[in-house]
Amino acid sequence: MLSLNDVFLTYSNGNTSVQALAGVNLKIEKGKSYAIIGPSGCGKTSLIFLMAGLIAPTQGEVFLHEMKVVKPHRGTALILQEYGLLPWKTVWENAALGLKLRKVPEQEIADILGQVFEELELTECIDRYPNQLSGGQKQRVALARALSLQPEILLMDEPLSALDALTRENLQEVILRLIKKHRITSVLVTHSIEEAVYLGQEIIILSARPGKISAIVANTEQGTEGYRHKMSFYAKCTEVRGLLEVHCQSDDRLLQKQ
Ligand SMILES: Nc1ncnc2c1ncn2[C@@H]1O[C@H](COP(=O)(O)OP(=O)(O)OP(=O)(O)O)[C@@H](O)[C@H]1O
Ligand SMILES: [Mg+2]
Repeated sequence: MLSLNDVFLTYSNGNTSVQALAGVNLKIEKGKSYAIIGPSGCGKTSLIFLMAGLIAPTQGEVFLHEMKVVKPHRGTALILQEYGLLPWKTVWENAALGLKLRKVPEQEIADILGQVFEELELTECIDRYPNQLSGGQKQRVALARALSLQPEILLMDEPLSALDALTRENLQEVILRLIKKHRITSVLVTHSIEEAVYLGQEIIILSARPGKISAIVANTEQGTEGYRHKMSFYAKCTEVRGLLEVHCQSDDRLLQKQ
């Protein structure tokens, strides 16, 4: 569905340049869920932005349905860490923003949002403003806005990292349920090993900057009943942690050890 072919990305600011990604090859298959994990600054957000068509690779190509990605695509929804809510608009208006931009008729917006709000248990918050919501509720509004667009592919950049542990687990359940129910292809960037293992059918491990794919871990039990409490879940977390330790030390840390 989505593929990155030998992608390199270098940011240039005047006479300094930063190589963020080097030689990334990746295939995202329809209906599957992926988690991307790697050290801070290794290029995870850059990778998500490339998939979303918000930035272009310096070298290599990104394809969606075999068409080169050169701008954001209608079927792609993106959720960022900072929720992206407008403080002067109500929850309902914030969630309706994407549909309004697409000029969807009011009645249709009401039908779509009504259902999404019920699924996300947000109905009681409809008339509130973002500053009257908890972090978890704000994140659910961001999720509602993305889901209302009925995306083919949902890209999420650390969407839950600002939340406390229990709210976070609760929203992981919500995301899992929704992507399964709507058969959405999803790519989630996270710093949390447990979150990657809970939500990713495939776990993509990036090396320290410039980010390269150092391993892809198949996680066949992902999404099965009660996975979080099984021994196999802990074993998978240990496997991912081991790979991160081997592949993801930055050059500075390696130098210090020598
Ligand atoms: N616009 C930019 N100009 C210059 N350098 C940038 C720009 N955006 C990102 N970078 C650099 O590129 C590298 C990768 O950044 P990116 O945001 O993709 O990392 P990340 O893996 O998402 O990090 P984090 O885990 O901290 O969110 C970093 O070293 C960052 O400083
Ligand atoms: Mg980032």
